Amino acid sequence: MQVKRFLGIFGLCGSICLAGCNDDKSSVAAPSAQQAETTLQPIIIQGALPVESERMAAVLSDVTEETVGGWKFWKGTYKGYPVIISKTRMGMSNSAAATAIAIERYKPIAIINQGTSGGHDPDLQVYDIVLGKYATNIGAFRTPKQPVGGGSNSLSWVEAFDVLPDDESDPEPIAIRKFEADQELLSAAHIAQAKYTRGNVVEGTIGSADVWNNELDRIQFLHRQYGTSVEEMEAASVAQIASQFNVPFLGIRILSNNITNGGAYDPGTGEACQHFVLDVAEEYMKQKQKAL
Ligand code: 5AD
Repeated sequence: MQVKRFLGIFGLCGSICLAGCNDDKSSVAAPSAQQAETTLQPIIIQGALPVESERMAAVLSDVTEETVGGWKFWKGTYKGYPVIISKTRMGMSNSAAATAIAIERYKPIAIINQGTSGGHDPDLQVYDIVLGKYATNIGAFRTPKQPVGGGSNSLSWVEAFDVLPDDESDPEPIAIRKFEADQELLSAAHIAQAKYTRGNVVEGTIGSADVWNNELDRIQFLHRQYGTSVEEMEAASVAQIASQFNVPFLGIRILSNNITNGGAYDPGTGEACQHFVLDVAEEYMKQKQKAL
């Protein structure tokens, strides 16, 4: 009921805006109202914090706000394309819940999880952006056995725990699971990167856990063990849920800090990433519209 009403609004608005606002009119035929309603679903862009989502919400047209539980969604259009900005709040549980709600409610064409992150790769600078070719959970392990008084050393936690095993009968599945980015989203991001001037844009692995690591040995261990470029607290969780629903997914993370090379925290990065990701979403939707 909710979804139908929402699609109806986009169907009408999308067809008007797509006919009038697309800058590539020569090669793209505007879809009929019927086509837009049935095929052009909204893209969801997530940000955990207000500084990672409100800038995008502010530039939507025809925006309406919806709050479900503790999660806020801004529904509107960007350059004529249906877009929903989702403020997930921080961490793996919040982002998983916001993702499941959004997929069930809005039936998105794709999901981008974006925001700030901490560098694991000393070659990356604050304001560089990592396109998550892979997203992986860096907070699930089986530790070695130690007796009482044996202490604890996280550098010996070499067995990653796969929380989404193919074999559900195995209670201790040991594997590093990497969720791969959707190829079309990744291609759109590579096209959009030409416009990004604040730093480099590279492909890499995003590591996620409800942890902010400040131990350089620990960061180096994760970088070597998982091949992580950056760490944050949401992308792998969203990727896990999106994969269960077969929704195309890409994580995009700007470095707001990198203690491996002295890169101090810069809060301006949250806004820079939002601008970049809107360009990615526009490029992706343009391709999808062409394919109609
Ligand atoms: N470690 C973990 N999370 C980080 N974030 C930014 N930098 C880091 C870091 N070094 C992001 C998380 C979370 C919030 C704390 O900021 O994704 O949403």
